[in-house]
This record gives sequence, C-alpha cells and structure tokens, in this order.
Amino acid sequence: MATNTRRTFLKIAAAGIAAIFVFLWNKLIVNHLATSQQSKSVFPFNKNKTVSFIDNYIVVNNEGTTTVLSSKCSHLGCTINNAENGKLVCPCHGSEYDLTGKILKGPAYKNLEIIPSKITENGQNIEIGS
Ligand code: FES
Repeated sequence: MATNTRRTFLKIAAAGIAAIFVFLWNKLIVNHLATSQQSKSVFPFNKNKTVSFIDNYIVVNNEGTTTVLSSKCSHLGCTINNAENGKLVCPCHGSEYDLTGKILKGPAYKNLEIIPSKITENGQNIEIGS
C-alpha cells in the first residue's frame, strides 16, 4: 500500500514538474516572438549626444556611427538605463557592455541585441525597428 502511495506521489510530482517546464518554455517562446516582431517607431534624433535612452532602446553615436541597441539586458532582461565611463551598465546585477553592445562583464554572457535603424533624410529623427 505504501509503495502505491509513493508511486502516485512521484507521478503527480513528475507531472507538476513537467507542467512547470512547459509553462516556462511557452513563456520564453512568447517573449522571443514579441521581441522579434517589433514594429518600426520614429523618435527624435540628436547626433551630438553619445548615448540616449529612448523607449526600449539605446541609441549610441560613436566615432561617426549610430547604433541602436535593445536596452533589455541579456542576463535577466532588466532595462539598461545608465552609461558610465563609456560603458552601458545594467542596474540589476552589474553586467557591463561596451558602446557596440558587446559584453564586457557578467553575469550576462551575451551581447545586447542590435536593432535595425535608419536616420531620416532631414537628420532629425531616427526610425527604429524592422
Ligand atoms: S539583468 Fe542585467 S545583469 Fe542581471
């Protein structure tokens, strides 16, 4: 009798763990689809400012090049909203990225996502997204 109870408990526990796994996997996929289906947005552009935090983006003007990065930290997704000494610093766990989005210090281990962008013809706005 005790063996049956233990087996039943283990089956229920395994089913619970599987359900949690499926839930988390589904959430990851939905998040990925949400970020990969971004639409185009237009924001004012200031070419004289090295780093601008706009909406969910980081616009970097460095050495004549404009790069737009996702402000979502590649570690656990906190919003990066700080630049110190030429580095982008995550406020949550201290990951650091250079101005091209390349990881300099963990715990994050992936670079920031580069977002397609285009400066409008009059140079006053930037279109971000695809
Ligand atoms: S979420 Fe950015 S370092 Fe953890």
